[in-house]
Amino acid sequence: MRIFIDSANLEEIRTAASYGIVDGVTTNPSLIAKEGHDHHDQIRAICGILDGDISAEVVATEVDAMVAEGRELAKIHDSVVVKIPLIRDGIKAVSRLTAEGIRTNVTLCFSAMQALLAAKAGAYLISPFIGRLDDISHDGIALIQEIVEIYDNYGYPTQVLAASARGPLHVKQAALAGAHVSTLPYKVFDQLFNHPLTDIGLEKFLADYRKTLVAV
Ligand code: G3P
Repeated sequence: MRIFIDSANLEEIRTAASYGIVDGVTTNPSLIAKEGHDHHDQIRAICGILDGDISAEVVATEVDAMVAEGRELAKIHDSVVVKIPLIRDGIKAVSRLTAEGIRTNVTLCFSAMQALLAAKAGAYLISPFIGRLDDISHDGIALIQEIVEIYDNYGYPTQVLAASARGPLHVKQAALAGAHVSTLPYKVFDQLFNHPLTDIGLEKFLADYRKTLVAV
């Protein structure tokens, strides 16, 4: 499973990238607004940090404007994947951008049938929001399972990107469900490293090693 960081914060992205295990970044207008910089400049800066897929979202909602904005975003860097919301004009825009060889990440997906439409339009990535479904007492992970099964049934190459993860359990469940990618807020990425038995075990190994020094 590929791991992306769901952030527009350069420090978080730099730190995550330093482990050598992060495959990309997802942003959205809300994440970029938090950083207080120009949208395109921030995407450019992120592309300079990490060699991987960098999702950048359009804010237009009409097909011609979405396609024009998608082309501009794609020009920023070869790594850019154009994020398009799952609305009617969005699906038309994905069909057109795909025909031009521009990769898309279809976002705000909350149903398997929406995901089917995105795959048919040629999306590179589909982003079901598992946490936001769980927030309203729906089963986000069940949606990942459904989409993976439907895409497998028909051999769609669209990759399932589990988005809106709230914690390590979501990441494990998404991996078990066969999601190709999980995008994680930095905090969740950092939580994946933790296990109390690792800390206790290391403390004991080091304490025992120190004893051997005394013995010498
Ligand atoms: O970037 C899309 C998605 O991951 C947003 O997550 O936490 O705002 O529901 P969240």
